[in-house]
Amino acid sequence: MKSQNRTEIPNSLHEHWMPFTSNKDFKKDPRLITEAKGVYLKDHKGRTQIDASSGLFCNPLGHGRKEIIEAITKQLETLDYVQPFQQGFGGSFELATKIAKHTPGNLNQIFYTICGSTAVETALKICIAYHKARGHGQRFRFVGRERAYHGMNIGATSVGGMINNVKTFASILMPGVVHMRHTHLPEHKFVKGQPETGKELADDLDRIALNFGSENIAACIVEPISGSTGTLVPPKGYLKRLREICDKHDILLIFDEVITGWGRTGSSFAAKEYGVTPDLMTMAKATTNGIVPMGVVAVKEEIYDTIINASPDGVIELFHGYTYSGIPVAVAAALAVQDIFEKEDIFKRAKNLSSYFLDGLFSLKDIDCIENIRGYGLMGGIDIKKSDRPGKAGFLTYKKCYEAGVNFKATGDCLIIAPPFISEKKHIDEMIDKLRQGITAYSKLK
Ligand SMILES: Cc1ncc(COP(=O)(O)O)c(C=O)c1O
Repeated sequence: MKSQNRTEIPNSLHEHWMPFTSNKDFKKDPRLITEAKGVYLKDHKGRTQIDASSGLFCNPLGHGRKEIIEAITKQLETLDYVQPFQQGFGGSFELATKIAKHTPGNLNQIFYTICGSTAVETALKICIAYHKARGHGQRFRFVGRERAYHGMNIGATSVGGMINNVKTFASILMPGVVHMRHTHLPEHKFVKGQPETGKELADDLDRIALNFGSENIAACIVEPISGSTGTLVPPKGYLKRLREICDKHDILLIFDEVITGWGRTGSSFAAKEYGVTPDLMTMAKATTNGIVPMGVVAVKEEIYDTIINASPDGVIELFHGYTYSGIPVAVAAALAVQDIFEKEDIFKRAKNLSSYFLDGLFSLKDIDCIENIRGYGLMGGIDIKKSDRPGKAGFLTYKKCYEAGVNFKATGDCLIIAPPFISEKKHIDEMIDKLRQGITAYSKLK
């Protein structure tokens, strides 16, 4: 292949070891995306796909946004890199101020990372540093939740709860992590929005605090809506109850908003949507519309002050950071994204589209191979009935849907649907029609 022409199939697919992919399957029948514009993708066979998951939930503003491309280009022409340790540039401060305007409560201190995984890792470390600065160095335990996804570093993997992601690496996971039960109950089948039952599952944290000693627990981390496992919407009152238990035991509460952040629920953050303020919050993905990697941790002012004031003047207060923490190109993309959020009132747009999307999603209920459907805001999960081994039905359905012209992410036997916020009703209709075609084609395979 000519090196500049990235639209042809390369001579060899062998060397690139693809992440979270069945490499054997892919290399026999590749799906190479060659173009992306608005809510559409084109593949190497010239087929058009509607993007029903906003990439990996990271392109809510659609693809090929000129404003972002121009901002990045301009930034790179003037200042391509600044080392982020003991130096800085104006943009990252401007962005932090903008982000802090959207975060709930006083989560006004903004730490930049490279991606969602490093945001989670950073949040865990900040919790430890905070407790240590208060003389509570014994608080080393973290509480995660079954079916959680927080990314793939060791810390993030340890607090995560998706079995395939942890079982190979069990021997190297972080010590001291305990998991609460997930919130998906059998009676939550085909429930649109928040289930009425299950709030008491938050009491798992209370039990863990009693069993392991609350004085040893640093923080509890949850995704307000569990995304990657297939959109598990929190039962009514669950997050509020978690907050109360954290307060009772002086445990910090981290909301991982890497998917739910920046409008996915119809509010800027799920924390605001559900009226529960955590102590720390992570974000990534939509922060730059997925175009340049960037992660963010928003932290309560008291936590920042405690850590900063625990060190003498002139000393680094937190020995943590990344070469690519808040680099100019990521900041330029994020600032352009902030402008679009504001100009296009984008969170409201997502909120207004939600009921149309959820009605469309739940209209698929009659297809016989569908086990369950869930959804909130512009996030949905469709469980396909299991076949002879876990994940097979989901993957085959994903491929049939791809053939039908709709692209999304499947995890195990769940199809995760998360349309771009700029979708119009006609795009939602197209996604739902093509999902029906693809899922029906899978059900005929059996
Ligand atoms: C809730 C959540 N946290 C963390 C991550 C990890 O993000 P990244 O893949 O950018 O490291 C993800 C990725 O999907 C996520 O959904």
